[in-house]
Amino acid sequence: MATYRICVLPGDGIGPEIIAEGVKVLKAAGARHDVAFAFEEHLIGGAAIDATGTALPDVTLEAARVADAVLLAAVGGPAWDTTDSSQPRPEAGLLAIRSALGLYTNLRPVRTFPALADASTLKPEVIEGVDLMIVRELTGGLYFGTRGRFHDEEGAGADGAPGQRAYDTLEYREYEVERIARQAFELARVRRGRVHSIDKANVLDTSRMWREVVHRVAADYPDVELTDMLVDNTAMQLVANPRQFDVVVTENMFGDILSDEASMLTGSLGMLASASLGDGTALYEPSHGSAPDIAGKGIANPLAQILSVEMMLRYSFGMVAAADDIARAVAAVLDEGWRTGDIRQQGTRADQLVGTARMGDLVVER
Ligand code: NAI
Ligand code: MG
Repeated sequence: MATYRICVLPGDGIGPEIIAEGVKVLKAAGARHDVAFAFEEHLIGGAAIDATGTALPDVTLEAARVADAVLLAAVGGPAWDTTDSSQPRPEAGLLAIRSALGLYTNLRPVRTFPALADASTLKPEVIEGVDLMIVRELTGGLYFGTRGRFHDEEGAGADGAPGQRAYDTLEYREYEVERIARQAFELARVRRGRVHSIDKANVLDTSRMWREVVHRVAADYPDVELTDMLVDNTAMQLVANPRQFDVVVTENMFGDILSDEASMLTGSLGMLASASLGDGTALYEPSHGSAPDIAGKGIANPLAQILSVEMMLRYSFGMVAAADDIARAVAAVLDEGWRTGDIRQQGTRADQLVGTARMGDLVVER
């Protein structure tokens, strides 16, 4: 029997509560599909700062490097908010682990669950059947370019008066575009065979190169249909006709903005999983934060964490049947009417309003 090593990083806030449900579901999926998981838990974020003074201890990073996959919950909260920039912040642990593991691909699936169709602010007929995957480049582009701020003696003001100037640069290397494009085409192959490549090629040179490289990669995937779309049009199309999208691949900042927009098609942050893939160990986590406002109460929605376990099985271990089991179980639990507070609806029965652990148990049972 295969054994996979899972590095478990609860973080802080609701992290420990929701990750317990992810682990529960992972164990159940392993038992059903004859795979064993060995769990090793480590500190990250606020919990790590409290215990060790740093948001990403070396032992945590080393454990993540040698594991077969990392399951992370969330970090951050007012307890560690400080204006003193010499003090460590929990979120720094997150950025550090992503960059240390070379996680250049961020996957965010956006899928509407029929039972939650009225949770979105958009009309049910628009979001019905939405099932798209944002593939965001995560370690290049505008967020990693040369940046600066300086005082300019002449030319900062409208009339040449002294003042401040600031700049950020958007730069890509060919290989960075090529590897993210390949990820997108590979994914499209096992999905519905469509890639939308998002750029601003009518204005930006990086986008013109992006487009050329994506088309060159596309030649290796004649079975996948490629569409170029400008980012501003994409912002509109995502809410006008989201069902047209299968895989959407894009630059770091475009992806940051578009994925938040797309997440609202489903209506709840508590339902959205993510995967970050790269050259080393892949990392799976919910898209939401540590929800300090509800931490410790046992009421957080564990489904985003559980759906990140689904992604782990699918992308790290090729356990497609087990991943499908989880997706089906989550849909069944929702169809039956079970809800945590964040996804409760007008018609939710009082006896079907459940806490974090019960929701995890329901998924395991189904
Ligand atoms: P948040 O995502 O933690 O919470 C936003 C709102 O959604 C809150 O009202 C919260 O109660 C609710 N919510 C989030 N997840 C939920 C769940 N699973 N079930 C039920 N309700 C849920 O974002 P916020 O409040 O902006 O940030 C809180 C802390 O989390 C900050 O320190 C922030 O930096 C950090 N953060 C961490 C992230 C991560 O670990 N990847 C991502 C985003 C924020
Ligand atoms: Mg963002």
